[in-house]
Amino acid sequence: MIIAANLKTNFTRKETEKYVNELESYIQTKNITQEVLVFPAMSSLDSHDGKVIIGSQNAYATQNGAFTGEIGTEQLEEFKIKTILIGHSERRHILGETQEELVKKFNFYKELGFKIVYCVGEPLEVRESGNEKMMEYISTQYEGIDTNYENLIIAYEPVWAIGTGLTPTSEDIESIHTDLKNKSKAPLLYGGSVKVTNAKEVLSLNNVNGILVGSAALYVEHFCTMCNYAQEIENKNKENI
Ligand code: 13P
Repeated sequence: MIIAANLKTNFTRKETEKYVNELESYIQTKNITQEVLVFPAMSSLDSHDGKVIIGSQNAYATQNGAFTGEIGTEQLEEFKIKTILIGHSERRHILGETQEELVKKFNFYKELGFKIVYCVGEPLEVRESGNEKMMEYISTQYEGIDTNYENLIIAYEPVWAIGTGLTPTSEDIESIHTDLKNKSKAPLLYGGSVKVTNAKEVLSLNNVNGILVGSAALYVEHFCTMCNYAQEIENKNKENI
């Protein structure tokens, strides 16, 4: 499974280093073999040797150049970063990134072989307009995206569930994930108000291959516990084969 922490605009460089080191030491001690990703704030990007994979929350589709406020591959290479989050709802809805821009970014980083965590998800008014309209909306977020890309991970994050404490029911998550798996066989994460209290249940659902965690991941011990849940579930699955 894949357990990912999106730290968003939180933590200083020093705090992030402490966070990653504590997480790394937990993973080593507990023999966690699941894939653990951390997306720190841009100014906290750093090299890391170990099992934890550091990814960038964003980057521009460029090596370098005149793109004020952005970073490109020159800055990512400094820290050997080969993982990127693309299409997060905060970038789509707050920063106004269009599907066209996201596709450009996706193709650029795909060409370079990056591991891409590509986010999709509907706002509340779309969800309230019914299942068919909702799936149509999510489908538009797949437009132009190579769903067969080998280093692709998709994260389904309903916008109304992000940072709100609200989550879809387990039945809803399972049914949407099952539909989305028909669009791409890539690992599919669920994100949106995942906490230690519901992580185990979410991770146990069919067609959920991991979680993308925001606020609850800011507590390193909570995020460690979630990594452990994923390991326990995988161990159990293996026993049952
Ligand atoms: P929360 O876990 O805070 O709802 O955020 C989810 C998210 O946006 C992860 O990318």
